Amino acid sequence: MKLSLLVYATLLIRGVNLGSLFIIEPWMTNDTCVSMGCDKTKSESDCVVALGQDAANNAFQKHWDTYITEQDLDDIKAYGLNTIRVPVGFWMLEDLIHDDEHFPQGGLKYLDRLAGWAADRNIYVILDLHGAPGAQDAKQPFTGQYVSEATFYTPPNYTRACKFLQFMTSRIHTTAAYRTTGMLEVVNEPQRNHPDLVSTYYATAYAQIRAIESKLNILDAHRLTIQFMDKAWGAGNAADVVGTNPKAGVAYDRHNYLKYANIAQTKDAYINASCATVLGDGGDTPTVVGEWSIAVGSKVQAQPQWDPTKEGNKEWYTRYWAAQVSAYEKGAGWVFWSWKTELGGNWRWSYKAAVAAGVIPKDLGEATGLAGC
Ligand SMILES: *[C@@H]1O[C@H](CO)[C@@H](O)[C@H](O)[C@H]1NC(C)=O
Ligand SMILES: *[C@@H]1O[C@H](CO)[C@@H](O)[C@H](O)[C@H]1NC(C)=O
Ligand SMILES: *[C@@H]1O[C@H](CO)[C@@H](O)[C@H](O)[C@H]1NC(C)=O
Repeated sequence: MKLSLLVYATLLIRGVNLGSLFIIEPWMTNDTCVSMGCDKTKSESDCVVALGQDAANNAFQKHWDTYITEQDLDDIKAYGLNTIRVPVGFWMLEDLIHDDEHFPQGGLKYLDRLAGWAADRNIYVILDLHGAPGAQDAKQPFTGQYVSEATFYTPPNYTRACKFLQFMTSRIHTTAAYRTTGMLEVVNEPQRNHPDLVSTYYATAYAQIRAIESKLNILDAHRLTIQFMDKAWGAGNAADVVGTNPKAGVAYDRHNYLKYANIAQTKDAYINASCATVLGDGGDTPTVVGEWSIAVGSKVQAQPQWDPTKEGNKEWYTRYWAAQVSAYEKGAGWVFWSWKTELGGNWRWSYKAAVAAGVIPKDLGEATGLAGC
């Protein structure tokens, strides 16, 4: 079976991000960084420089081999989830790496393996270009590069990103392991002040993915859903260039971190804002909330009444989770950030830990009732 563009209409996405697997983010995986010898570095690329290429390849391969296992996929399935979103860097396609760039090598084999594990369990996969050539944002370890200036927004780096997308499109359609990989996101969280992102990069990425599929004679029903950040992200609206015809086979990605939202930092306000989330601005449907968490504002997060390790606080976090789920399920669904973290008793960023703590129920059907929206 090939889950693809026609399927999202019937698949309500309930998923988790596999953050820090193929792009390590030190803030959420400090233990891993320490054990790799990279706790003093700011990004994956800096870690490679610090360790040297060969030692870095060994350290990263060990990480890819152990950080997410088949047991994780079994747990994801057992918790009622049907989707994983997998953030990757363009350096998966090693031919694209310039001599003066430094990235770990050998990741593709592990991505293939992961896709196969997901397919074996009928778990849908969203593959997300999370680390773009030249970095799509400055000083953001999620891009895999800690740079003072983002240089993604240039013709040669757009071209490299498009080559990555073409390569992955072809691999997805010609490799059995990817039979449940149905969505490809062209870039995660770009900067907001580059008009040619939409007119050039989005338009070209879309056309080139479709061109590869035409060359491969992929039936319309089996084409990939091509995903863009939504209009609410603030970097323009892909619908302006790809249209809103459902046959275009696109989907949108909303990142809804209420932790950073401009709302009063009270428990009622968080619930209200959760319930009131509206998707689809600018004709962007279907929209998946591809990143969100149950974290709260930096000013309050350490206060006793918000402390996740205090027994009496769990009920509210359950409601906060449920209110978001019930709102996001009015759209195409949701993907929590993230599955697994190394933040100790702070399960606000870890679905796995929140389930273990009894905060997130295993029966997702309970969400609407618990939300009280
Ligand atoms: C990372 O872990 C090391 C070793 O446990 C610790 O010394 C360091 O403070 C941690 N860093 C952060 C940012 O938590
Ligand atoms: C593309 O990105 C690389 C960083 O990896 C940068 O060195 C280069 O200058 C960028 N290209 C342009 C034309 O800015
Ligand atoms: C939340 O919504 C309820 C119901 O509409 C309202 O009574 C309450 O004042 C709101 N609270 C906040 C903090 O916005």
